[in-house]
Amino acid sequence: MGDFVNYKAEEAFGIITITREKALNALNSDVLKQLNEVLDNVDFSSVRVLILTGAGDKSFVAGADIAQMKDLSKKEGEEFGRLGNDVFLKLENLPIPTIAAVNGFCLGGGCELSMACDIRIASENAVFGQPETGLGITPGFGGTQRLPRIIGTGRAKELIYTCNKIDACEAYRLGLVSAVYPLENLMEEAKKMARKIASNAPIAVRNSKRAINEGMQVDIASAVRIESQCFGDCFGTEDQQNGMTAFLEKRKHDPYVNR
Ligand code: CAA
Repeated sequence: MGDFVNYKAEEAFGIITITREKALNALNSDVLKQLNEVLDNVDFSSVRVLILTGAGDKSFVAGADIAQMKDLSKKEGEEFGRLGNDVFLKLENLPIPTIAAVNGFCLGGGCELSMACDIRIASENAVFGQPETGLGITPGFGGTQRLPRIIGTGRAKELIYTCNKIDACEAYRLGLVSAVYPLENLMEEAKKMARKIASNAPIAVRNSKRAINEGMQVDIASAVRIESQCFGDCFGTEDQQNGMTAFLEKRKHDPYVNR
């Protein structure tokens, strides 16, 4: 962990905060490398959900660092894009669920960071957009790929070609975020969701994520085979026995133990 990314574990979840507040948490190479290191060090035996947010009350992440990008060559630009894409792919494919708590500007690389998370919730002051073409570049940390997968190609192309910024209500209407809360309630709501997820059987939650992520990359016949594997893999676990026995005995299950 360095100066730009903070990590703390709390209850059964971890909270990652991008802490480069004076640049509205913009992502330069150091931020990306520190985020990568934090992701490598999460203890998945105890942490069941990750929450990502930005420091301060104004910005989640205002994009990739424009000052750093200004004089990059084509080769350096591609390398910078690859660095961001590698870190965001790692985030997307973490074994546990991730929630972006979007607390303000969520632009360019910031919107891309939020989209590499499984779920996005936003504060009322959040602003979303992909302003890259207005700066002379394409989205470079996954925006051209994840935005159409989340909101559909027509709306994604519109947002990327026009650079229009949208508020949290519009992001909710488009299905880019699951819910919108007053800023002062956002983290508590994120934690509430994390607790709810963490209360379900961890192996089943992880396998659901795997089935969705892997299944979305392949044809439906292959996808349902992946699902069958993930489904089958849950049987015989202590958590499956606990959950189903409790249901049949008409009582609440014991806390799930991740075995
Ligand atoms: N990169 C570098 N610095 C940034 C930044 C960014 N993306 N966004 C904000 N900052 C810096 C500003 O330069 C400013 O620094 P100084 O105080 O040293 O001047 C500081 O953060 C505060 O920003 P503003 O004074 O601009 O704050 P504001 O409230 O007036 O405006 C804003 C806020 C509308 C978000 C505006 O800062 C802005 O438009 N930022 C850029 C947003 C953007 O275009 N993001 C996409 C970047 S490209 C990208 O992300 C590529 C990719 O896909 C990989």
